[in-house]
Amino acid sequence: MVLMISEPKRRPEEVFTPRGEFNPRMYTPRTSLESDFRTKLRQSSHLVLYGESGCGKSWLYRSFFSQNAVMFKIVNLADASRNGKITPEILRAVNPAPGGQLTGYDTKKSAGGGLPGVATAVLEQTNKYIVPADDPLRAAISLFRAQAGAGAAFLVFDNLERIFEKPALMEELADIITLADDDAFLQHKVRFLIVGVPSGVREYFARTPSHRTVSNRLLELQEVSRMSQQEAEALVVRGFEGELEYKIEAVDRFDIIRHIEWATDRIPQAMQEYCLQLAFVGEATRTVTKVMLEQADDVWLKSSLSSAYTVVEGQLNERDTRVQRRNQVLYVLGRMDGEEFKAAQVEAKVRTLFYPNEPSATIGGVPNALSELALTGGAGAVLRKTPKGDAYMFLDPQYRMCIRVMLKLGANNAVEKIASSKI
Ligand SMILES: Nc1ncnc2c1ncn2[C@@H]1O[C@H](COP(=O)(O)OP(=O)(O)OP(=O)(O)O)[C@@H](O)[C@H]1O
Ligand SMILES: [Mg+2]
Repeated sequence: MVLMISEPKRRPEEVFTPRGEFNPRMYTPRTSLESDFRTKLRQSSHLVLYGESGCGKSWLYRSFFSQNAVMFKIVNLADASRNGKITPEILRAVNPAPGGQLTGYDTKKSAGGGLPGVATAVLEQTNKYIVPADDPLRAAISLFRAQAGAGAAFLVFDNLERIFEKPALMEELADIITLADDDAFLQHKVRFLIVGVPSGVREYFARTPSHRTVSNRLLELQEVSRMSQQEAEALVVRGFEGELEYKIEAVDRFDIIRHIEWATDRIPQAMQEYCLQLAFVGEATRTVTKVMLEQADDVWLKSSLSSAYTVVEGQLNERDTRVQRRNQVLYVLGRMDGEEFKAAQVEAKVRTLFYPNEPSATIGGVPNALSELALTGGAGAVLRKTPKGDAYMFLDPQYRMCIRVMLKLGANNAVEKIASSKI
């Protein structure tokens, strides 16, 4: 008799890791972003990668560089912000010596300049790259080149937004980028990838005094935003079927996948959060069924979306209000396409969704409801005006997800939140 020893099944939290370390097994390819990256990799400029938080910037470059044999080192600007300087973080990224030897660099430098003993030794081992000991940045770059051999090498400055309140660090970064144009640097062909949220990137160029010279040296990659439908579906399938070996109920497969995409707006981090909850719900049977979605919605609202839930709840009119205009507007906002919406578009959608048989009914109060939803203070705003001032957008993408999962149409098309006892 042959004894089959099967591998232990993987657990939900090992598969869906919404804020976890990069996991190549769960990385779902981003076709269009990767192809844009591939083209721009072949040019010699430094690169900028931007996109809202949770959309997958860090996972994208980690996967892309690994797949394309690019050596990369990450300088976390959050650390630089905490420690007050970028250059030591570059040294740390390039030569993460154990036991705090790089602190030795600071001591030595203050005693008259020079690299720490260990770092110098590493540099000397490379022979070809003898560098002036009083220039730590140059030392780091040439050490990095030595490590990368003849291959492509990128220094990644991640979380740019973390330094935009710190003028000294923004200047230091601008200097680093400008310096990277001199011959001594150019010979090493070490390139920079700057990563941040869109407002952080814009802010940086607006606030950096030499922004024109700096921006001339940078090439923007395609914005990292929500996944395409195919990518989102691939993520769900890879997680549940590939990794967890769950069965997605065949008759409802389409609806289940569409619901996950709809609720999470195809934002990868939200997808992983939602799928983790759904995977817990289905753990006992190792299946995913349509009825489980309701339970997953509830848990998700309670956990990841709880603060958005409180704000949206505060904005709902009392149930017995005769015309629930603000509630209708909220409901409709969860169903608007695009990032920005004008009052007239919202009004048109209120009409089609709530008064389809009354084409000439007056739909008053939409502009008012929108401006109330954008007012800070009180219940907390859900929207904000666009910079041009002629439209609105969500203050945070979480509000759209929350509204989608939280608000339902009840009897007489009244907008209701899902049973509050569950929350
Ligand atoms: N391509 C992908 N495939 C599967 N999951 C992904 C993918 N990209 C991102 N994720 C999921 O989304 C989470 C957030 O991604 P990531 O950390 O790359 O976002 P980010 O844009 O760098 O956000 P932040 O600006 O907050 O750093 C990851 O931890 C992972 O769970
Ligand atoms: Mg990131």
